[in-house]
Amino acid sequence: DWTMGAYREQAIAAIKEQVGDAHVICALSGGVDSSVAAALLHEAIGDQLTCVFVDHGLLRLNEAEEVVGMFRDHMNLKVIHADESELFLGELEGVSDPETKRKIIGRLFIDVFQKYANGIEGAEYLAQGTLYPDVIESVSFSGGPSVTIKSHHNVGGLPEKMGLKLVEPLRELFKDEVRALGVELGLPKSFIGRHPFPGPGLAIRCPGEITREKLEILRKADAVYIDQIRRHGLYDDIWQAFVAILPVRTVGVMGDGRTYDYACALRAVTSVDGMTADYYPFTHEFLGETATRIINEVQGINRVTYDITSKPPGTIEWE
Ligand code: XMP
Repeated sequence: DWTMGAYREQAIAAIKEQVGDAHVICALSGGVDSSVAAALLHEAIGDQLTCVFVDHGLLRLNEAEEVVGMFRDHMNLKVIHADESELFLGELEGVSDPETKRKIIGRLFIDVFQKYANGIEGAEYLAQGTLYPDVIESVSFSGGPSVTIKSHHNVGGLPEKMGLKLVEPLRELFKDEVRALGVELGLPKSFIGRHPFPGPGLAIRCPGEITREKLEILRKADAVYIDQIRRHGLYDDIWQAFVAILPVRTVGVMGDGRTYDYACALRAVTSVDGMTADYYPFTHEFLGETATRIINEVQGINRVTYDITSKPPGTIEWE
């Protein structure tokens, strides 16, 4: 009789056996996989685990505080908040090509992680939230699209380079099992059920050049949009929802004045695995109400559009 409770005990025993009294470091992204891996390792080895949360300045509103706060203050994990937003945003200045953005972010992510990890005394293991499908994919479609999607989080080659051994406590699990294990470990259901968020973060939701101004506007608009979706009880019916800020200003009227502000696009899709997706059929009432709220509540946006492209031919992200 297989239960998640029994699996948890077995996984904890396996981690203890593998790691012994060595120290483990883990890159915590706030995503489900790395969060559940960190929570499980913490149960198994407590203070022998140190997590590094790399903050690239491309996170959603309050995200860094929420993730770090939850793990550090509520779960008592050792978490280093590596606030390197100045570094990332500086290197991204003037860059508009999507793949160049990804490469810069991926390279800096590894540099930053290494820098902080080197400061942790006696680390012997690197923990990764690799799932069973990742194990299969990296074997069968090596170099294919499913691998590049994960490219940012895939710190392939890093353990050897850093002289670390790997510990991958989720290697036997599928996504839904990881979620169940997370709940079993006491992570909040709302956290476990969060939509996927790409490694390069808001960089790929800001087509064209990234500026601090655009990021700030985008964060606010995204927060209003997600709040609308939650208020209408739609969050769990949607695979992923977000706002993209468009690299164009448009003319509008507000009160007696003319405005010249950014346009944004709302995105929401249903999907099983992110490989194909359908746009979500919001009601016009919902869309109208959301547009009004964003324009009223977010200074810097005066036009809201809804993206009705499915995948294929579109991608989920705008870049
Ligand atoms: P696309 O836009 O390719 O996205 O339809 C499919 C899924 O992958 C996520 N995504 C990424 N995740 N690094 C990531 O970690 C990336 O560079 C990246 N690009 C897309 C996207 O959010 C969606 O869930």
